[in-house]
Amino acid sequence: MRVLSIVGARPQFVKLSPIAHALAAAGHDHVIVHTGQHYDAKMSDVFFTDLGIPTPDVHLGVGSGSHGVQTGSMLTQLDAVIEEHDPDWVLVYGDTNSTIAGALSAVKLHYPLAHLEAGLRSFNRRMPEEHNRVLTDHAADLCLAPTEVAMRHLADEGLAERAVLTGDVMTDVCLRVASESDGRPLPFASEVGDDFILATIHRAENTDDPVRLRAIVEGLAGLSRPVVLTAHPRLVAKAKQQGLDLTGGSLHTVDPVEYPTMVAAVRAAAHVVTDSGGLQKEAFLLRTPCTTVRTETEWTETVDLGWNVLALDLDGLGALVERPAPAPTDATPYGDGHAAEATVATLAERARPRA
Ligand code: UD1
Repeated sequence: MRVLSIVGARPQFVKLSPIAHALAAAGHDHVIVHTGQHYDAKMSDVFFTDLGIPTPDVHLGVGSGSHGVQTGSMLTQLDAVIEEHDPDWVLVYGDTNSTIAGALSAVKLHYPLAHLEAGLRSFNRRMPEEHNRVLTDHAADLCLAPTEVAMRHLADEGLAERAVLTGDVMTDVCLRVASESDGRPLPFASEVGDDFILATIHRAENTDDPVRLRAIVEGLAGLSRPVVLTAHPRLVAKAKQQGLDLTGGSLHTVDPVEYPTMVAAVRAAAHVVTDSGGLQKEAFLLRTPCTTVRTETEWTETVDLGWNVLALDLDGLGALVERPAPAPTDATPYGDGHAAEATVATLAERARPRA
């Protein structure tokens, strides 16, 4: 079987890692296409190096742009790439512009399309990620769902027959890296000590609304412990445009960190404050309490189990971060760390026989 993976943004490199390893272990061909959506070394290259992902076979180099420009420039190149490699499956990941571009190109060329991390919903139609994931699920021949909740969403939308519950590949990589990076020194330890809050903010809903972004930055700066803010380029650019200081009060802002450092930092942190989907879940997997700066989450299990709370009122951020510790749990809503093998087995079972 030949699988062609299309990735472009940081969280997709993390998901690609266990899939690349599982495909290689099972002896399948794997073609990796990097769209170039994320291009800074710290947002891209270090993930390939640290997570042992083979160098991409094709790099489209699209870079930044409006949604239409970015997605369109991927589309103009993808048809030829997919036809040249003639895969049994085109595999797209998550919910970014690279996902929807890969999905559109594959279905229009009549190549079988599989969507990894299918069925997630925020029900917030203003999020670019929500458009991308809904449209991709409906285009896909195979929806690889990480959770029971995702399976229910797919069934509710009439997609039950195409849906398979595989578990979450982010659990595979997070648990593996956590066991390998135990005791890894943190680059900011000498400045912040060992009682710190880890924060990330990058979503368009938070960064692109000046009033909201100011409230978030001031809320983080006003927390009572040091806040290590690993700053996504989008946050840095928007803060600069709006004249916001990312170094005031409790804030200790650093460049994006590589994945093993992030995992070690989540583990060591007293609390995580984020708007990232992946980080909410990593905080749960590593049992660090999390506050999510959004009005909804796709990872509802983290909230139901008490480890994640949505900061609906930004004025209350300090109280949420200082809330009592959640009850311990051994629940595994995100699988047992073998989702990539299940994904590869499902792809192999359902591959169309070649003519
Ligand atoms: C994208 C995804 C989002 C995902 C996030 C993870 C979409 C619509 N959004 O958001 O779902 O959670 O990636 O990071 O696909 N930039 C750089 N260097 C880079 C990458 C980006 O400077 O390597 C800057 C550019 O100014 C760019 C901005 O960040 O315009 C935003 O990048 P973009 O790819 O549009 O979306 P993200 O905010 O990263």
